Amino acid sequence: MCGIVGYIGKRDAYSIVIKGLKRLEYRGYDSAGIMLHDGKELKVSKTKGKVTDLEEVSQKDNNFFGSIGMGHTRWATHGVPNDVNSHPHLSNSGNLAIIHNGIIENYEPLKKELIKRGYVFHSDTDTEVLINLIEDVQKKENIKLGKAVQIALNQVVGAYAIAVFDKNKPDEIIVARLGSPLAIGIGDGEFFVASDASPFIEYTSNAIYLEDEEMAIVRLHKPIKVRKIKDDSLVDPYVQELKMNLEQIEKGGYDHFMMKEIYEQPNVIKDTYRGRLLANKGIIQMAGVEDNLEKFLNAERIIIVACGTSWHAGLVAEYIFEEFARIPVEVEYASEFRYRNPIINKKDVVVAISQSGETADTLAAIKLAKENGAFVFGVCNVVGSSISRETDAGAYTHAGPEIGVASTKAFTTQITVLTLIALRLAKAKGTMSNSDFHRYLLELEMIPEKVEEALETNEIAKKIANIYKDSPNCLYLGRGYNFPVALEGALKLKEISYIHAEGYPAAEMKHGPIALIDESMPVVVIAPKMGHYDKVVSNIQEIKSRSGKIIAVVTKGDTQVRDLADHVIEIPETSDALSPLLTTIPLQLLSYHIAVMRGCNVDQPRNLAKSVTVE
Ligand code: G6P
Repeated sequence: MCGIVGYIGKRDAYSIVIKGLKRLEYRGYDSAGIMLHDGKELKVSKTKGKVTDLEEVSQKDNNFFGSIGMGHTRWATHGVPNDVNSHPHLSNSGNLAIIHNGIIENYEPLKKELIKRGYVFHSDTDTEVLINLIEDVQKKENIKLGKAVQIALNQVVGAYAIAVFDKNKPDEIIVARLGSPLAIGIGDGEFFVASDASPFIEYTSNAIYLEDEEMAIVRLHKPIKVRKIKDDSLVDPYVQELKMNLEQIEKGGYDHFMMKEIYEQPNVIKDTYRGRLLANKGIIQMAGVEDNLEKFLNAERIIIVACGTSWHAGLVAEYIFEEFARIPVEVEYASEFRYRNPIINKKDVVVAISQSGETADTLAAIKLAKENGAFVFGVCNVVGSSISRETDAGAYTHAGPEIGVASTKAFTTQITVLTLIALRLAKAKGTMSNSDFHRYLLELEMIPEKVEEALETNEIAKKIANIYKDSPNCLYLGRGYNFPVALEGALKLKEISYIHAEGYPAAEMKHGPIALIDESMPVVVIAPKMGHYDKVVSNIQEIKSRSGKIIAVVTKGDTQVRDLADHVIEIPETSDALSPLLTTIPLQLLSYHIAVMRGCNVDQPRNLAKSVTVE
């Protein structure tokens, strides 16, 4: 996690870096810092807190300007979030400055060695160790900064995206990456470096994304030189044209990114199936699947690896794949899978789901699966991300940038992609009748319209939020396809409103959670009129007889649950398998309103980050 940004050129670096940091705050917001060089002097300002706090602190210094700058927004790993542990960090001589996203795992022995050599440390961070290691190499070997960075990085174990600046060489920034993303924007007589392209999108659409184990010397008026960290050999950099636009990363009139992203769902679901779902022709075409169809068809099992909300999308996919294509599916937390010596066979297809495409545990699980000969397919949102490059093939979700830390549109577009894949495989395997196949294509095509309708539950969600906003606990129950939706609903609530919430399969309630139910316990039950509806109705009765407060998500026109529940939220009718795309919408709205009413920072909930590049 952590966001890094740098600028070298002719403009005022301060405003570019600050604006860039605000766009990268989704990556962490424990502290923020900036370094500027005005041609003579190197100045640093940093503080615990958010980028707005940094603005306040740094603006006190009227001389804070320069056309070279670097900034950092932190998600704390080593050392508490305070001013001293904030980045940038300087080397002991004060000549070198560094910003770092990642973890240096062997920082302790390196630090001990440097202390023996007379270095002094002011912070508890691994990053300060790295910058002093670079300085030590530079001095010992009497070499240029780029070479010193390369030698130092070869002594380091861990993950990093770094930018390093030397005040004696104020026309260059050295950047390097291993495991954390780094993009270089190429403008006219100016360069930008950042964790993603959002800080420089209005200045240039040309960017180089460094690959793992690559570093670059970004020097004014010189072409960018990219080298392999291992052996210093030159690499031909690939300059990519960016598709992102400014509008996509702004709030567009909404109070929060989360709300904007909830409301984008009808459009982005359509974008995700556009060109892939051709209902009138009765086909599904996805290049990544078509090119590897045999692998999918011969798969003895599909293993889905993911974290967080993406894991919930994986759980929905388990039901869909098994029902549609009759392929056994296992859904694994990437972090558990990678560490437990899993059995992976050559005939396994591993599907890795990740919005950011950078989640460290998911990335490690992919590497493990590949080492064991499995075919790995990625479902990512961020184009060009590490996971999209590491996987053998894949399909992008077309959700556009998701900035709110609580994932919303990424979840529904992931389910859309996974449903398309399952349908394609069902067709190829003959596990679904032609008429069902066509019915699903038509139904899926109508989902955006129905999501639009589901969004009309906003007002009722707001009213319900007002009643339960002070509850300390909340239960979410669902069955079958809607069990993962219960998990996702509970996660949404806890992550942005800090209310303790738990998701459960409705039938499991009687094996424990029912003990929690009394007149003060709100229970959100996902009860669309399909699948195991009657069983869910029985569960609702069990809650009612214990005086629990029932908030039910039901199919439009339902009367049975309406008679039992304290509140109902109606969603349009669709088939069981597609219902998570609708039932999840009011749960997103409910948690959003509760968080707003509790005065929580909806887009940047405490302690969380959007892109988790630490293990
Ligand atoms: C973090 C985010 C979640 C996300 C999870 C997995 O915890 O806050 O919203 O679901 O990481 O991220 P990924 O990018 O791999 O989907």
